[in-house]
Parts: sequence; structure tokens; C-alpha cells
Amino acid sequence: MNALRHLAIIMDGNGRWAKLQGKPRTHGHQQGINALRNITIWCAQNHIAYLTLYAFSTENWSRPKTEVDFLMRMLKKYLIQERSTYLENEIRFKAIGNLERFNPSLRQTILALEKDTAHHSALTQVLALNYGARDEIARACARILHHKKEGTDMQELIGAHLDTAGMPDVDLLVRTGGEMRLSNFLLWQSSYAELFFSPVLWPDFTPAHLQEIIALFERRERKFGRLI
Ligand code: FPP
Repeated sequence: MNALRHLAIIMDGNGRWAKLQGKPRTHGHQQGINALRNITIWCAQNHIAYLTLYAFSTENWSRPKTEVDFLMRMLKKYLIQERSTYLENEIRFKAIGNLERFNPSLRQTILALEKDTAHHSALTQVLALNYGARDEIARACARILHHKKEGTDMQELIGAHLDTAGMPDVDLLVRTGGEMRLSNFLLWQSSYAELFFSPVLWPDFTPAHLQEIIALFERRERKFGRLI
């Protein structure tokens, strides 16, 4: 049976979910918070070490300003209101992505939650915020240019300079909402991840859906390029 240490999720389908209800897209994002909380708690209770969720991509800035502004306000509110979820469930919070583009107050809220939950050990929940895999790799390379020593293993060096340094590679990557693409998410870390695409729209995605996917994942043959 395959071990699942790092689960990554592309939470897609909020906008379509809202449209189906005849509501604005922002309503879908709000409902997406409930799914995010339920999945996170389930992962904490089921001994998954890392859960990385794509919350805002480097490309999402090009959405209408009203939606971007809403997502920024929602993120701040989420980090404040959900504090109890992290404390009660022993969840460590970590952000990946380039935080420099966020306003100082939001950045401060992100860093405070990271600091206050750094000692928790049930689950590390990683939110990808202003994250793009190409941007992450480019930032890692820029840092390496300052430090590179002769004879070092370049793949190891790049891994150690990514936002995810110290975390295991992704074992299972799930995208909800029916689209079948990676959208610039964890491209380096998912090199040998098993991929699953669920038609369920993110606000409707429950731990039961996730359990079904994990059961299939556990039976997949992972070869990592070898012959078995
Ligand atoms: C994709 O759905 C979703 C996003 C770009 C935002 C993800 C946000 C959440 C799941 C809520 C939790 C977020 C935070 C910030 C804590 P979409 O808008 O692309 O949906 P569509 O494909 O149906 O248009």
C-alpha cells in the first residue's frame, strides 16, 4: 500500500458552483472555505503529514479587481477566524509563494499564524498564496546564484531553495472541478505524484470524496521510473 505523506489539492470550481446557485462567484469562494476547513481537519485526524492547497496563483491577479479584492479580504478574515481550527487540531500553518506582493497587514497576519502554530505536529497545512511553480523555481535559482559552490548536486540545491524546502515530494495531487491540468502548481515537487481529477466542484468536495481517491491511490503501482 502506498504511503501518503504529502497531499496537494487544486481547489477548483468555486465560481461554477456559485453560478449553478444563481449567486455571484464570490459566494462560491465563501463556501469553498467550509470545504477547506473540513478537508484540513480530516487530514489532521488521519495522520497525513502535509496538505498543500492552491489558494491564490500568480496568475489570479488578472481576475477582475473586485474578485481579487474580495479574495484578499477573505484570506485575511479566514486567517483570523480559523485560528481556533489550527489551535484545536494541532495544525501547523505555512504559506508558500511570494508574499511580497500582499499588503503589509495581510503579510503580518500570515506570518503571525505561521509563528503561533510552528510547534504543532498533527498536520502541516500549506497554503499556496501568490504562488506559481515557475516563479518559485525562478526565485530559488536567483537565491542559488548568490550561494552556489562547485560540485554541489544541482537538483538537491534547487529543492533546498524552493519554498517547500524540507517537505517531502507530493505523493498525491488532486484537482477538483473537472479540469485536467496542473496550472503551474508544484511542478517540481509533483514530478512523481499520482494525479487524480475529480468532477466535483470544490464547495461540494467532502472528506468522503477524498477517502475514495485515497483508496484508489493506495492501490496504484508507483514505479518512479523503475521497472517493477
Ligand atoms: C478556484 O475556483 C478557486 C480559487 C482561485 C480560489 C480558491 C479559494 C478557496 C477555495 C477558498 C479558500 C481560500 C482562501 C483564500 C483561504 P474558480 O474561481 O477558478 O472556479 P471556476 O473554475 O468555477 O471559475
